[in-house]
Amino acid sequence: MNLESICSAYRRHARYYDAVFGPVLHPGRKIIVETLHVDPGERVLEVGVGTGLSLPLYPSTVRVTGIDISKEMLEIARARVDRDQIQHVDALLEMDAEALHFPDASFDKVVAMYVVSVVPNPIQVIQEMRRVCRPGGELFVVNHFHSQRPIIREMEDLLAPLSKLAGFRPDMDLTEFLHSTQLDVIEKIRANLFGYWKILRCRRDPLT
Ligand SMILES: C[S@@+](CC[C@H](N)C(=O)[O-])C[C@H]1O[C@@H](n2cnc3c(N)ncnc32)[C@H](O)[C@@H]1O
Repeated sequence: MNLESICSAYRRHARYYDAVFGPVLHPGRKIIVETLHVDPGERVLEVGVGTGLSLPLYPSTVRVTGIDISKEMLEIARARVDRDQIQHVDALLEMDAEALHFPDASFDKVVAMYVVSVVPNPIQVIQEMRRVCRPGGELFVVNHFHSQRPIIREMEDLLAPLSKLAGFRPDMDLTEFLHSTQLDVIEKIRANLFGYWKILRCRRDPLT
C-alpha cells in the first residue's frame, strides 16, 4: 500500500463509510474514549480521524485535534462537527500520520482508531504518535490483528493481496507489531464482534 492507493480507496469509501463501518466498529471507539480518562483541558490528537465518528464521544471538557490524509473523509468529519455543534474539536487537518506537523510533546493522549493496518508504515506512525505525546502521556490503538485461529487466519491470508483495493491490511501480526514499535502496553482489551479487534493502551515513556 502507498499513500496514493490509500487516498484513492478512501475517496471511494467516504460516501458509504459511516453506513458500513459505523455501527460495527463503534464499540471499540466508545471503549477507547472511556479508557482515556481525560482530565478537563487535556489535549487529545486522533490520527486517521476519518469521518469523525468518534468526535461526539469525547467529553466536552477536552480539546481534540483530528488529522487524516483523505480530503473526502475529512469533509464528512467537518460537516459532522458543524451539524452537531461539537465545541471540543480544535481542528481537523489534512496531514500524513507518518509526518505530523506538530512540535514534540504537543498532546496528552494520542489515539489511532482502525488506522495502523491502513498506513504504509505503521512503525513510523507510532514513532510520530510517541513524539507528539508528552512524556508520561498515553497512546491508544484499536485495530484488527492477524487471527490466531487457523481457519480465519487462512481467510485473512487469502484477502491480503486485495489490501490495496480494500484500503487495509488484514494480516498484520500483533507480536511483530509490538516488537517493532516497542510499545509499552499497560492494558489490552478485546472489542467489537467476537472480540476480534484489540485495544492497546500504552504508556509514553516518561523520560525521553
Ligand atoms: C479505517 S479508517 C478509520 C477512520 C476512523 N478512525 C474511524 O474510527 O472510523 C482509516 C483512516 O485512516 C486514514 N489514513 C490512512 N493513511 C493515513 C495516513 N498516512 N495519514 C493520515 N490518515 C491516514 C484514512 O484516510 C481513513 O480515514
